[in-house]
Amino acid sequence: PAPDPTAAKRVLVAAPRGYCAGVDRAVVTVERALETYGAPIYVRKQIVHNRHVVETLEQRGAIFVDELDQVPAGATVVFSAHGVAPSVHAEAKERTLKTIDATCPLVTKVHHEARRFAREGLEIVLIGHGGHEEVEGTTGEAPEHITLVQNPGEVDGLEVKDPSRVAWLSQTTLSVDETMETVGKLRQKFPQLIDPPSDDICYATQNRQLAIKQIAGHSDLVIVVGSANSSNSVRLVEVALEAGAKAAYRVDNAGEIDDAWLDGVSTVGVTSGASVPDDLVQGVLDHLRSHGFPQATEERLTEESLTFALPPELRRDLRKGA
Ligand code: F3S
Repeated sequence: PAPDPTAAKRVLVAAPRGYCAGVDRAVVTVERALETYGAPIYVRKQIVHNRHVVETLEQRGAIFVDELDQVPAGATVVFSAHGVAPSVHAEAKERTLKTIDATCPLVTKVHHEARRFAREGLEIVLIGHGGHEEVEGTTGEAPEHITLVQNPGEVDGLEVKDPSRVAWLSQTTLSVDETMETVGKLRQKFPQLIDPPSDDICYATQNRQLAIKQIAGHSDLVIVVGSANSSNSVRLVEVALEAGAKAAYRVDNAGEIDDAWLDGVSTVGVTSGASVPDDLVQGVLDHLRSHGFPQATEERLTEESLTFALPPELRRDLRKGA
């Protein structure tokens, strides 16, 4: 038989990858809202940070807006998975908009922690990325108490009123290793630093990082499927490079793969961020197959079984058959 030209090549696809419980719930929330109330349904900010998901929902009648003043009186508006500041809830109430809150319960948990630390009079260091919607929402819970720190380097210049009364929280979608480095520096500076009651970086972020780490060390190239504004997807590229991948790139879909990346490559690792539908990953695997790579092998780190119930305000109307 002729030698198999794909023999020396392989594709390893990480698992878990793609949709987390919070993203699934947020997307289904908009779909059910469209079915239940009819189009248009307004969504404040991108429901999840994925271009493809947003475009698909737009075609079905969702209208994405940046702020509530773009929502007409009496309309229904969904809040995105990343959460909103209390001021946004207040504005919606004042304008008597019907709201459905698709904030991921694991983000809501961080909001609760922020409120509790603030009630206890602590200064809160929030580790996260400035301008990200989740950070804006969490900060809005206790703006007077929260200071943002974006990376370990920012700890040195940090000033607090009382070094013995400092707690830390984080965005849910950061690099675990970099965050631990930041926390280590904070603890050196404030030995009495108070930890959050449980991990703020969510299970999905952690699992996707651990899963790509397993593969990255023996990959010549890692392809991460995810949008540019998706924090956890961008982190996966960084984590892959730190774990030894020779190269790592993020693409929204197979169309963004530069075929020059594949030159001389034998092992390709593939994964996707928590807001990415798996057909986009399958598109990347198909692309690789059409470029001389074999069928992918899945390397599964762990199973995930967490699911979240839909927002209660929507469930109520679903029961009523509104
Ligand atoms: Fe929630 Fe984590 Fe997904 S915070 S939306 S489960 S990435």
